[in-house]
Amino acid sequence: MSNLQFYIQPGGSLVGATRVPGDKSVSHRSIMLGSLADGNTKVEGFLQGEDSLATLRAFRAMGVKITDPEEGRLEIQGVGLEGLQPADDAIDVGNSGTSMRLMAGLLAGQKFDSVLTGDSSLVKRPMSRVAAPLSLMGAQIDTAPDGTAPLRILGGKNLVGIEYPMPIASAQVKSCLLLAGLYAQGETAVLEPAPTRDHTERMLRTFGVEVTTIDGRSCIPGGQRLTATNIQVPGDISSAAFLLVGASIIPGSDLILEGVGINPTRDGVLQILRLMGADIDVLNTRDVGGEPIADLHIRHTQLQGIDIPENLVPLAIDEFPALFIAAAVAEGTTRLTGAEELRVKESDRIQVMADGLQSLGVKAIPRPDGIEIEGGKTKGGQVNSRGDHRIAMSFAIAGALADGDVLIDDCANVATSYPNFVQQLSELGLLVKDQLL
Ligand code: S3P
Repeated sequence: MSNLQFYIQPGGSLVGATRVPGDKSVSHRSIMLGSLADGNTKVEGFLQGEDSLATLRAFRAMGVKITDPEEGRLEIQGVGLEGLQPADDAIDVGNSGTSMRLMAGLLAGQKFDSVLTGDSSLVKRPMSRVAAPLSLMGAQIDTAPDGTAPLRILGGKNLVGIEYPMPIASAQVKSCLLLAGLYAQGETAVLEPAPTRDHTERMLRTFGVEVTTIDGRSCIPGGQRLTATNIQVPGDISSAAFLLVGASIIPGSDLILEGVGINPTRDGVLQILRLMGADIDVLNTRDVGGEPIADLHIRHTQLQGIDIPENLVPLAIDEFPALFIAAAVAEGTTRLTGAEELRVKESDRIQVMADGLQSLGVKAIPRPDGIEIEGGKTKGGQVNSRGDHRIAMSFAIAGALADGDVLIDDCANVATSYPNFVQQLSELGLLVKDQLL
């Protein structure tokens, strides 16, 4: 197995203005909803990363004509709610949990059978969280005995709407059920225990579908058709997070990130960094196709350790690896609790981050539902990202502040969400390279 390594030398700073890649969550949904719509949908700003490309290939495999993305632009010839065709083989969505969980919902409503599978990380992740409520709607989904992929989804079932209180705050579960709800008789309602990203609801509305959200209860009447529209994908705040943290902690940094999505269900990273004392201005707030975006201006400042409020956890769920790097160089201790979900992401992000931080001489104590990190100096060293894109990118940022070189193993999956990461960091002024061994 080849090993893509990142190699970072200390020093440099993040200076200039740039755009981060398109939002991964919104990119997935643009392909899914564009495919199910009546008419042609044009997408701009699409993330040409492996995860969203896996969704694109999956819909092509089900007979949808989608042009090759060029500089983030593509066009989808929607086939309508009933127009998908069975794929010839199992659909392999690689590393992408979003593709698998959202597609499980809409495939449960088809007339044909499907199989969804993924890479060695994805086939270890919990899928009962979608299979169980879908079966309450009348779907039949077989998982491996431990509730993991491959998922065998039987078609030809008549789905009925349910009212489902989610036991965990998960946008993937909510979105899966709302998409299944398009095919169900009656109303499907999902109640969330805490606010989670609402891109599915917003984009369904852009496609002309009625979805109501009142007091954490999202409700969709079944049988509604989608009307093609044009989608402009915002910059991904989860990708911006590495630069937000980097510019906050690396002396001499002064950075502008243009056109970043600041949907209030995704802005926990901004709130947490500000609680730590970060200097971030949100400028030129505007709306693109139902999603708020803004330019973010970040300048270096000394951060302080904090106890992270638990209500911000779902709003920053993908940004904790980057935030742990901020905590590692902050003054004082940072404590995270209520974040057990981090253990079932692309890797066990609590354990893998704690191991990596300890390799760089940082005192990091993993807890079942979080971590405690004592801020201070970071040493050079070698870190294994365990194939988790966000962990690889987080330690690349840490490398700029370490007192020696940092080498990060198993970085190929950075291409799932941020294909030009190394190039962009180096253009902005960090001393980072990649090498394939
Ligand atoms: C996502 C939801 C989140 C997030 C993931 C993308 C989405 O997952 O971690 O990267 O696009 O709906 P959960 O719903 O499992 O928290």
